[in-house]
Amino acid sequence: MTTSLKINGEERILTCDPRTALLDALRGELRLTGTKDVCREGFCGACTVHVDGKPMSSCLLPVGKLEGRSIVTIEGISDGATLNAVQQAFIDEDVVQCGMCFPGMVMTLSTYLRDNPSANRDAVKYALVGNACRCTGYERIVDAAMSVVMAQEDAG
Ligand code: FES
Ligand code: FES
Repeated sequence: MTTSLKINGEERILTCDPRTALLDALRGELRLTGTKDVCREGFCGACTVHVDGKPMSSCLLPVGKLEGRSIVTIEGISDGATLNAVQQAFIDEDVVQCGMCFPGMVMTLSTYLRDNPSANRDAVKYALVGNACRCTGYERIVDAAMSVVMAQEDAG
């Protein structure tokens, strides 16, 4: 049995068992290793991808349930030449330490700040409740997110 879906804008056909977690199909069959494999239980957010525009934990999604859906991973979040605003803010604010949490953080924050362009600091912290970071203490991650909010407000 195969599963047809769109990955980062390209039609792909997965040949793995339909019970395979999307996380494993991405990192294995598709060699998209930017999506991180940490808790595998839906707690840490490191494996977050967008499914039809919504952030979801890929470790909990069997590929057989994703027929026809559109998936965006960290590899597809920017156009290649220009980074996503959250990625750029993480660089500008010099946030990254070990980096294991950051693909998931970018996927969560990019949709959250798109949908909540004037979010305040507390709201951003709440939005990140499903994304664990063991290194940074979160404050600089929130600083980076707030810099995106300010840039959006300046542009708008
Ligand atoms: S690896 Fe999926 S939530 Fe932690
Ligand atoms: S930078 Fe290491 S887990 Fe977040």
